[in-house]
Amino acid sequence: MLPTYEAVSGRAFDVVAARIRASPQLVLGLATGSTPLGLYRRLAAGDLDWSRVTTFNLDEYAGLSPEHPQSYHHYMWLHLFRHVNITPARTHIPSATGAGTAFEARIAAAGGIDLQILGIGANGHIGFNEPGSSFGSRTRSVSLAARTIADNARFFDRVEDVPRSACTMGIGTIMESRVIMLMACGKVKAEAVSRALQGPVTTDVPASVLQRHPNVLVLLDEAAASLLSKHLLTS
Ligand code: PGA
Repeated sequence: MLPTYEAVSGRAFDVVAARIRASPQLVLGLATGSTPLGLYRRLAAGDLDWSRVTTFNLDEYAGLSPEHPQSYHHYMWLHLFRHVNITPARTHIPSATGAGTAFEARIAAAGGIDLQILGIGANGHIGFNEPGSSFGSRTRSVSLAARTIADNARFFDRVEDVPRSACTMGIGTIMESRVIMLMACGKVKAEAVSRALQGPVTTDVPASVLQRHPNVLVLLDEAAASLLSKHLLTS
């Protein structure tokens, strides 16, 4: 546990930067949303060599063009890709127009994901794998949960503008990543974090599957960690 959002972002930066320096051909899984913005701000300002890094994003909304200000394509270019020397052909974002199997094949061809950055929804989702998603699920089109639509309405003018469906990496796909770095900040995530890390492993809480992964680094601020038993916490 770390004291603040900025401390979580700084630690996450240290992890990603060390991995890229150690393995210039790193295959990096990327997340979007509010949580990784501090990490991306640091990466954008850094001097890492991204030219041989390959990236795979977790998810993308259906029905938004890549240029749409709320698309995750746009998010990635705005917050990270345009600031670094990444090779555009090495960036991959799922397309909600289908072809989940092609996305999976690209991950396999790249040798699998070395480090997956992950957030958690207030309802326990990972990527857009909403409660009830199978632990064996692969990259596919999904409907968004009402809670996710409500939570993400803050990025849109009106709640009606939030897409109702998306394409997401599956839980099975995410679990094949060699290392997962889960980031969560704020009181709004405390219950989901508690259920994910110290509750039963259940598809009702997709992130609880991470208890079965051998190599998960969890970065939390104090508020997100506030419902965890003290024995689970290190700094
Ligand atoms: P957030 O989203 O970082 O915007 O809170 C996380 C998620 O829904 O997975």
